[in-house]
Order: sequence, then structure tokens, then C-alpha cells
Amino acid sequence: MTTTTPWWRDAVVYEVYPRSFSDASGDGEGDLEGLRRRLPYLSGLGVDALWLTPFYTSPLADGGYDVADYRDVDPRFGTLADFDALVADAHRLGLRIIIDIVPNHTSSAHPWFSEAVRTGEGRERYHFRDGETAPNDWRSNFGGPAWSRTPDGQWYLHLYTPDQPDLNWHHPEVREEFESVLRFWLDRDVDGFRIDVAAGLFKHPDLPDLGALGTHAPGSPMYGRPEVHEIYRNWRSILDSYPGERMAVGEVWTESPEDLALYVRPDELHQAFQFHLLLAPWSARAFRETVQTCLDSPSGRAPTWVLSNHDVIRHRSRYGAEERSRSALMFILALPGSAYLYQGEELGLPEVFDLPDEARQDPIFFQGKGIGRDGCRVPLPWSGTQQPYGFTTGKPWLPQPSDWGRLTVEAQERDPSSMLSFYRRALALRRTLRGTLPPTLEWQEWPHPEVLAFRRGDLVCAVNFGEEPVEFQGDVLLASGPVAEGRIAGGGAVWLRS
Ligand code: GLC
Repeated sequence: MTTTTPWWRDAVVYEVYPRSFSDASGDGEGDLEGLRRRLPYLSGLGVDALWLTPFYTSPLADGGYDVADYRDVDPRFGTLADFDALVADAHRLGLRIIIDIVPNHTSSAHPWFSEAVRTGEGRERYHFRDGETAPNDWRSNFGGPAWSRTPDGQWYLHLYTPDQPDLNWHHPEVREEFESVLRFWLDRDVDGFRIDVAAGLFKHPDLPDLGALGTHAPGSPMYGRPEVHEIYRNWRSILDSYPGERMAVGEVWTESPEDLALYVRPDELHQAFQFHLLLAPWSARAFRETVQTCLDSPSGRAPTWVLSNHDVIRHRSRYGAEERSRSALMFILALPGSAYLYQGEELGLPEVFDLPDEARQDPIFFQGKGIGRDGCRVPLPWSGTQQPYGFTTGKPWLPQPSDWGRLTVEAQERDPSSMLSFYRRALALRRTLRGTLPPTLEWQEWPHPEVLAFRRGDLVCAVNFGEEPVEFQGDVLLASGPVAEGRIAGGGAVWLRS
């Protein structure tokens, strides 16, 4: 079967958190040149595209999701020339590049905001209000009020840190600016955008109290406003005006699958993340219901499966056992749609829970809403037996655990039973199967209730969510671990041809 499917529909996209990927400059923070040098590793891994989280000029109050200049690279990550070299090399190796775009808010160091605070000029590009008390009851997603005051006493809105003022999308200059930013990067040959806080941007014009409503609930005055769809229709026409299949994937947190579907109407975004599996517990029933709900919803046209990203606890730690992580990967890679992987999951990296407080950098930690996300952002171990494990010649910006020597790329490359070797096998096999599988799945009945199995064409994927081994029949294409006597181990999975 030949396929005219657009590349992103069944792509495996690898999320790169540049600050923690690989450091070429020796300053202890990853950079674009470090990433460029490691591109052969990524192409050898067998992914189709890279999604780079923000590398723009930024004070890094929120890991770069606080952008001060949307058209430049922060010096700690390199230069625009480094970016161009990265894109060119990636394309030569057949890897597409998706970059993050952060339209809901700027950094407080952005010239628009700093000038607004200093001179009062241009405050209408943000949400400034007068008053003795905060204009409404909204809370920041990271803890604390969503309003802070400028030195002259005005309030401004920030749904994240006070260093991330929310833009006023009713202002025409805001729209024009982002259209121009999209073109700037499309002209530099990026293949797509991941849109940060894609359900944000517009707020209810009266800024009413949220009251008892959930932040992301239907009808929320903070997220999911209908006006946002006109913006995405417009962005879609910009993407479509470029050669090649440029795409956009939205980070849309919403309580309602119907609302999610609105973002992927044919003239809007190509994909919206479905975070549901990431939130599902390790159980056959939960996985099946989650997948079925995603596929049944209108957004199921372009499914996106995610187990980990830079905002959540790594799934190696969430699921507790390495075998389960392997099985979860086999499960999502066999599903129709695309899979988004997060750097380091191919090494089986666990979440680092015990970072010292003084090393932590995530604003969530400082704003009092929990331990934060630094534990999934610890720099990758490449080689050697001790910190910095080949990540840098300097001191890594977050300390790496002392027992990561066995998890380095170098150590795992030598070991055919390692997680890395397993990821390579799974991704290679998926590539050979791509285009031969129907875009739908059929659930298979198994004698054991803790096994979840589905068929796509000749391929059957079966995951044993129980603790005890269960029997199976069929030719094994791939297994999460050693297959003894025709049995899938507890927590294990097989891909069968039958
Ligand atoms: C998104 C990003 C997250 C960031 C937040 C604010 O949720 O994934 O890392 O903190 O937006 O920009």
C-alpha cells in the first residue's frame, strides 16, 4: 500500500529540551551546537522529527517559556547561524524540525513590556488594570495570584509567573507580530510549530471572576475562548502558503474532548496533544478506555500519543518498572497516529526526585505549587561513569545522579538488552510497518482480563498489565523482554504477526 499520508500524521517526534540535551560551549547548559553534533545519534535512534522547546532570548524565569526576543537565539544556546546550521544538518539527515512558539505571554524583559512599565506606552498590548485590589480572583497556574503590580501601582495579568505577562490578543499589533514571527521561522525552513498554551491567548473581555469553575473547564474566562480559533485559521493559511507540509501542534489542556476537537478542524491546527494516556493509571481498562475515547472524539482524526514531556514526571518512574515503560512504548507506537517522545526516555531515565532545593530552578517550586519539574530536566548522560557524563566539559546546570553511569548512551549502545537498543529496534520496526497498517484498530479479546490487545492489519500488539505471565500465540516481531515458553511476562508486551 502506498501512502499519501502527510508526514506528521504518523511521525515519531522527539522532544529536545535544549538546555539539558548536550553542551558544546562548556558552560554547563546545553546548546544548539551541542544538539547539532548529536544529530547522528537522533537519526540513528529512528525518529522522524525533533521538537525543540524554546531557545529564544530569555531570562529563563520559566525555562525559556518567557521569551524576550522571538526572533533570536539566547546567547547561552548559541546564535541564529547555529540554528540555521542545525536545521540544514537535520534536513540532510531526514529529520524535520518543529519549534515552540509562545504566544500567550512574553517575558517581562520583552521590549514591549519593559517599555510599558517604564514609560506607560503600549500597556494596551497586555492586560493592565487600575484598582485597590486585584481585578479578579484568577490564580496563576504555578501558584499565587495571577495579578502583580507595577511600581506605579497598576495591576497586570500573568497566568504563569509574574515574569510572564499575558498578551492582549484583542490588540491588532499582537496578531501582526506573531504572524511575522511565524514567517520569520518558516523562512528559516522550520517544518512546524508546537504552540504553547494554545487554548490561552484570549481572555473574556470583562475579566470576570472564575468562581468555582475549573481553570480549563468549558466556559472558563481564562482558556478556550472562541476568538482563538480565528487566529489558528489564519496561522493555518500562513503555513499552507509555504512549500512542503508545514504543520502545527497545539498544547491544549481542556476538560472536554469536544473542545479539543475544535482546535483540529480541517482549517485549524494539524494536531493537538492528547495528554490522556499520560494521565492514565497502569491498567488495561484505563488504557483501553483512554485510547477509545481519544479515537472516538473528532480530534481522533490526528491522534498524538504522549507518555512523558518536560512538564511531567517521567513515565519510567510513574510506572515503576522498566518493563512497563517498554510496553507502554510498544503500545503507543502500534496505535494509529503519531507519538511524541521526550529526550532521555530512550535511556530509561527515571525522574530525579532528590535534587537539592538550592539546585532547583523551576518557578513552580518557588511559587509554592509543589516540587516542580526540574526532576525530568536533568541533563542527559552520554558517556563515562560520573558527572557530567559527557554532557558538558563544565558543571551541569542541574546535578546528575551518581548512578547514571549505567544509563549513558555509551554504556547502552554496547548492550543489546538495554533500553536504548530496545528503542532502536522498536522504532526501526515501526518504520518498516508504516504505510502497511490500516489507520484504525480492532480490539482483540484475550482469555486474560489483564491483557489488552489490538490488531492493525497483520500486527497484533498485546500488553500484559497484570503481574503474572500469560500465554500467547503468534510470531513475535518484538517483545519488551525475553519471551520464555510462549509467555508474556507481567508488565510485558509483544508485537505479533498473526
Ligand atoms: C506550557 C509549557 C510549560 C510552561 C508553560 C508556560 O505548559 O509546556 O513548560 O511552563 O506552558 O509557558
